[in-house]
Amino acid sequence: MNNINAIILAAGKGTRMNSTKPKVLQTLSDKTLLEHVLIQAQQLCSKVYVVYGFGGEQVQQTINDASINWVEQVEQLGTGHAVAQAMPQIDDDSISLILYGDVPLIEQSTLKKLIAHAQESGVALLSIILENPTGYGRILRKNDQIQAIIEQKDANNEQLAISEVNTGIMAVNSGLLRIYLGELGTNNAQSEFYLTDIIAMAVNDGKIIASVIAENEFEVAGVNDKIQLAKLERTFQQNQAIQFMQDGLTLKDPSRFDCRGLLSFGQDCEIDVNVLVEGDVSLGYNTTIAPNCIIKNAKIGNNVVILSNSVIENAVINDGASIGPFARIRPETTIGENAKIGNFVEVKKSSIGKNAKISHLSYVGDTLMGEAVNIGAGVITCNYDGVNKHQTIIEEGAFVGSDSQLIAPVNIGKNATIGAGSTISKNAPAGQLTLSRSKQMSLKNWNKPGKK
Ligand code: UD1
Ligand code: MG
Repeated sequence: MNNINAIILAAGKGTRMNSTKPKVLQTLSDKTLLEHVLIQAQQLCSKVYVVYGFGGEQVQQTINDASINWVEQVEQLGTGHAVAQAMPQIDDDSISLILYGDVPLIEQSTLKKLIAHAQESGVALLSIILENPTGYGRILRKNDQIQAIIEQKDANNEQLAISEVNTGIMAVNSGLLRIYLGELGTNNAQSEFYLTDIIAMAVNDGKIIASVIAENEFEVAGVNDKIQLAKLERTFQQNQAIQFMQDGLTLKDPSRFDCRGLLSFGQDCEIDVNVLVEGDVSLGYNTTIAPNCIIKNAKIGNNVVILSNSVIENAVINDGASIGPFARIRPETTIGENAKIGNFVEVKKSSIGKNAKISHLSYVGDTLMGEAVNIGAGVITCNYDGVNKHQTIIEEGAFVGSDSQLIAPVNIGKNATIGAGSTISKNAPAGQLTLSRSKQMSLKNWNKPGKK
């Protein structure tokens, strides 16, 4: 098997994106367009060349991958010229796989077929049959064999009626490619060096062009504007959702579910509508996520119930816990087994013990909370003195009455009870009732102020 080089064309500016970013840095799911292509290329090729032009520095900085060979195309003189920029670094005895930085959803299986064909016949071309071929180069065949590619702008009416078009993706023996690129001219409607002209040259040379016809339009779809970008994003999400469902995930509506990252799950998990999963998320078995939740980089156990409108980031939720509705679990938080985090509760950088309950309207930050602690409504850990953050420790079995403030650093002892409405600034001993409320009084002879 010959060495395989990927040559990824990425010199275009992408004017129609109306963006300060080069086109290939627009994102689809959680990666730039170029990264999607790079992932495919790196799995198949020993070397990857990226031909850059507009915004090259920005592209290289963003991608930041030392294994890539960056090749500059100073002036964009056509696809043939772009490929030629990489050739000085490429061995004749190899296969060059030509890809495009703005065609992100090309699949491994298709490229493998193309490479295998190129290894046999020297030149393999990926085409597709389109209902509307407008804009593309048309594939000219004689007795079924590919003869040439004619660009839209150079084609006559008969040729324009052909529905088989060039995707641009091809695999070519590098020695042949070098020879043909050297012979390209610019005698065409766009005065460009057309890569597509190498097909007729190879045919003239007696070569048979191996043909692979792509089955899926999305695989070869390029992205030129935000409308096409959104369309491909939908395709990507839809394909991913189908895979998840085949693997056993219940999605109430696959068109209202987005995963921008990696999701793993056990059996019998269910995700309701408008849920966004980001980063690296794992669900155990029999875990359910209600509508409108955002879950990012989280490890969620078995039998967990996440109720609607909850946001979870960088957290571990252990088996049987219940979160939400309207809960926010912030980074570096662990929620213990069977714990309950209720509505309008925010938890940050805390460890919440098994069976603990924080049911309503609380802020818990920088806290170590033991098992079976019960936090009343509206309790706040005052973790910040304006300069530094301090820890609150609430030991096993403690009960903190509603609307209390725990001024950190502070320790609430095992099985301690804090009376409702207390401001606790000193440690509360285990097993005792601690409260800081002033004594309630009623004034008999008090008069309500009247209007002046
Ligand atoms: C090209 C093909 C056409 C095919 C179509 C598929 C040629 C001559 N035509 O046409 O047959 O149907 O793609 O989409 O190849 N690029 C560079 N440097 C350049 C020119 C282009 O890097 O000098 C890059 C662009 O950024 C783009 C890609 O190559 O990603 C294709 O270039 P573009 O000008 O869009 O080609 P088309 O005219 O669409
Ligand atoms: Mg063009």
